[in-house]
Amino acid sequence: MQEFQQHDFAQVRLSTARLELRPMQMDDADALFAMCADAEFVRYWSEPAWQHREQAERRIQRDLDALPRGDYLCLAIVRKQDGVWLGNCSLFSFLWECRRAEIGYGLARPYWGQGYMQEALQALLAYGFEHLQLHRVEADIDPANRASGQSLKRLGFVQEGLLRERWIVDGQVSDSALFGLLQPDWLALQTSAAKHASV
Ligand SMILES: CC(C)(COP(=O)(O)OP(=O)(O)OC[C@H]1O[C@@H](n2cnc3c(N)ncnc32)[C@H](O)[C@@H]1OP(=O)(O)O)[C@@H](O)C(=O)NCCC(=O)NCCS
Repeated sequence: MQEFQQHDFAQVRLSTARLELRPMQMDDADALFAMCADAEFVRYWSEPAWQHREQAERRIQRDLDALPRGDYLCLAIVRKQDGVWLGNCSLFSFLWECRRAEIGYGLARPYWGQGYMQEALQALLAYGFEHLQLHRVEADIDPANRASGQSLKRLGFVQEGLLRERWIVDGQVSDSALFGLLQPDWLALQTSAAKHASV
């Protein structure tokens, strides 16, 4: 039987031109709470707006506990220039036999529209496909979440399906648009981007 490697995510650090990605830490609780208490931020999210700062502390503790077990990788997105916490992004629901995981992400509202998530997810996907050797990454988003869909498409994700009435959040029923990105497609996109950059 094939053996699957257990990953310890506690030391993961990723770097891009403008950003540092590192595991969430307890000091991030205020910024995480402010992001998730924002009604506009949670408009298409899987949870209602947070009401209590302890929700942020509990979430961070859950993420910290999961890192060494390698079953949830949640990274804070921090701006290098001034150390400001912008949001976070995650790989989770790992199914190592199929080399598959799901991706999640969010930016605090002041930082939307500046390409930060694009940059962060490029780094997270490079880690997933090239270091962890994932074969497939999936995203489940509200089809009405245009910004999220655009971010995924720019990265090469393809919408593969629509699941009806899959979420009920605060009494609101919504569908799921399922997106997928395969490792060979990701690698081909990187090669073609590198070719264009060198011309
Ligand atoms: C989904 C979410 C992260 C997208 O944020 P975003 O800032 O639009 O994401 P991106 O980093 O992809 O930014 C791309 C936008 O920045 C613009 N931009 C500005 N400067 C840029 C740069 N240097 N590089 C790339 N894009 C840049 C792009 O034109 C694009 O805007 P457009 O979509 O109007 O064309 C954000 O809306 C969010 O956090 N929403 C709430 C949480 C949520 O819904 N999460 C997803 C749940 S599954």
